[in-house]
Amino acid sequence: MNLIFTQDLVPGMCIGGDVIAGDGFIKLLTQGAVINQSQIDSLKNWGLPSINIDDTTDKMQEKVIAVHMTKTEFTKGYNETIDKIVHAFRHVKKFGEVPIAEMQELVDQKIILLAETIGVLEHLHDIRCYSENTFNHSLNVAIITGILGKWCNYKGTELKKLILTGLLHDIGKLVVPLSILNKPGRLSDEEFAAIKKHPQDGYQVLKDARIPENIKLGIWQHHERLDGSGYPLGLIGDEICAEAKIISIADVYDAITSDRVYRRKMTPFEALDILADDLFEKLEPVSCLTFMDNMRDYLIGSSVILSNGKKAKIIAFYARDRCFTKPVVCTRNGKLLDLQKEKLCITGVG
Ligand SMILES: [Fe+2]
Repeated sequence: MNLIFTQDLVPGMCIGGDVIAGDGFIKLLTQGAVINQSQIDSLKNWGLPSINIDDTTDKMQEKVIAVHMTKTEFTKGYNETIDKIVHAFRHVKKFGEVPIAEMQELVDQKIILLAETIGVLEHLHDIRCYSENTFNHSLNVAIITGILGKWCNYKGTELKKLILTGLLHDIGKLVVPLSILNKPGRLSDEEFAAIKKHPQDGYQVLKDARIPENIKLGIWQHHERLDGSGYPLGLIGDEICAEAKIISIADVYDAITSDRVYRRKMTPFEALDILADDLFEKLEPVSCLTFMDNMRDYLIGSSVILSNGKKAKIIAFYARDRCFTKPVVCTRNGKLLDLQKEKLCITGVG
């Protein structure tokens, strides 16, 4: 552990202990976070002279999200991957079998790089502006699973297996008629039952595939919830496998932050509030907290639109509550606003 002057910080360093300001109420960064330039700027804004840095290099390498890609390069890589997913999923529809080697190659050569790209979540948010379907959702969940998996200390082959589970989690939807999947109005009981069968259908499609059983189970159980409220089996607690617990967080986050036929996409801040308030009892708490803590750090410095239409930058979130839509922000004219004390909230990103 080393005490480093704020002016000497560089992106990629790993935070050695929680960084707290505002008389202990505001957590600027969480222990273990890998710092980026926006967060360094934020620490300078707060006038913090120095912070503790963890200089254990292997820990930094495990957690770091540091592939440099421009937005254009990311979008190109994303779209090339989508083309391959479309091709593979058509093969599944036609022949009833998943081209596993092709999917694994996609994970190893493309998706892992997308998941490790600096600014990946902002890029995903922009891409979501113009397209949303099962192909995009499958890739988004694979990428978000890769990010969360890294934050949860998955690495190497285990991380790649987890990403493959994310990529294939909704493969059973290929069995559900598009007229039901894309129906804008209320679903009949029969239609809803057909949708709720997709995790089991996915397991069936992969039953004979030569992949580890926990990938197949992760797919079957990705809509199960810890309190038994999920489907198809209503499993509880540890009856649900570790892979399904992680995939379900990535799945829910992507679903909330994407346009759907029945509603507009929400911001990452609203999605995190929903995870914290409505879904915390249902999702695995340790992974869910890991996701929220790391997202809190990740979102520091991002540009947002406030409910008065003005633009601002995120400076810090409160340490002791999980209200992500009411952080401390800095307006364009340099004024600090604590949204918990103002009649304002975040309504958009950009
Ligand atoms: Fe699903």
